[in-house]
Amino acid sequence: MNLQKKVTIKEVGPRDGLQNEKQMIQTEDKIEWINMLSETGLTYIEITSFVNPRWIPQLADAVQVAKSIKRKNDITYAALVPNERGLEGALEANVDEVAVFMSASETHNLKNINKSISDTYPVLKPVIQEGIVAGKSVRGYVSTVFGCPYEGEVSIDSVLAVSEQLFSYGIEELSLGDTIGVANPKQVEEVLTEVLKRFPRERIAMHFHNTRGTALANVLVALNLGITNFDSALGGLGGCPYAPGASGNLATDDLHYMLAGMGIETGINKEKLIQAARFLEEKMGKELPSHTMQTERSKISN
Ligand code: HMG
Ligand code: MG
Repeated sequence: MNLQKKVTIKEVGPRDGLQNEKQMIQTEDKIEWINMLSETGLTYIEITSFVNPRWIPQLADAVQVAKSIKRKNDITYAALVPNERGLEGALEANVDEVAVFMSASETHNLKNINKSISDTYPVLKPVIQEGIVAGKSVRGYVSTVFGCPYEGEVSIDSVLAVSEQLFSYGIEELSLGDTIGVANPKQVEEVLTEVLKRFPRERIAMHFHNTRGTALANVLVALNLGITNFDSALGGLGGCPYAPGASGNLATDDLHYMLAGMGIETGINKEKLIQAARFLEEKMGKELPSHTMQTERSKISN
C-alpha cells in the first residue's frame, strides 16, 4: 500500500448529519456541539447550510449558528450555499469557506436544487466568483458520482463534465460525493483514476456515505491513490433528504479509528471526539450508529 502520512478529516456532521434528522436540534445545542467539535483537533467543520429553509427546515437557524459559535483561528468553518441568496447569508455570517453543490445526474440535481444541470451552471458561476472576491475559499461538491437514486448508473463523463465546469469557475477543492452509499472499491479506483488524470490529487476530496458498509474500503482505495481529504460525520449521521435511500455519512470516529491504527496522522483526539458524540446522543435522545460509538456503549454496559 502506498499510504499517506497525514490526512485531513472534514467534519460535515453539523450540516450533512443534521439535515437528514427528523428531530430538530435546539440552536443552542448545535452551537455547543460545534464548540465541542472545535476542541477535538479537527481543522475543518462544515457548520450549516444557507439553503431554503422550506427545503431543509433543520438548518433554518444557519445565521444564528454561524454567528454564535466560538471560532478558532486554525479551523476552517464552512457552509453549503446553493445560490446568490445563500451566499449573502454565508457572507453576512462570515464563514471562512463556502461550498456549492450540484449533481452528476440530471434527476437528482432537479430534485435537490430544482434545476437542470445546464441551468445550474449560470447560478453557481457568480456564486463561486463573488465568494472568491469576498475573500472566501470556495469548495464544490459533485453528488451522485457513483450512482443516482433516480437514474441508477452515472457515467464518468458526466462526473468529469461537472467537475471541469466547477474548477473552471475557480473552486479550490472538489468533493466527490457517493450520495447514496453505493460505491465499491473497484469503482472508486476507476473513477478516481480518470479524475486524477485531469485534476491534482491535493484538490480532490472524497465524501462517502456508508449506506452499504463500503465507505472505509472506499477510503482505503482513495488513500492508496494519494487522496488526503475525506469528509465524514461524527457518529455516522447524515444523508440527503432529496435522495431516497441515502443514509449516514462515513462516521468520523470510525475513520479516525482506522487512520490512527494505520499510523496516519489526523491531529484528532479520540476522547474529545467521543465526548462530542456523547453530547449529541444526549441532546438527540438517541444512539449514534457508528461502530465506534457502539463499541463505546458496550464498554459502559460491560
Ligand atoms: P427554488 O424554489 O427553485 O428557488 O429552490 P427559487 O430561486 O425559485 O426561490 C423560491 C423561494 O426560495 C424564494 O422565496 C426565495 O427567496 C427562496 P419566496 O419568494 O417564495 O418567499 N430562496 C431561499 N431562501 C433562503 N435561502 C436560500 C434561498 N434560495 C431561494 N438560499 C433552492 C432552489 C436551491 C434554493 C432549493 O432547491 C434548496 O434550498 N435546495 C437545497 C436542498 C439541500 O440542501 N439538499 C441537501 C444538501 S446536498 C447534499 O446533501 C449532498 C452532499 O452532502 C454531497 C453528497 O453526499 O453527495 C453535499
Ligand atoms: Mg452528503
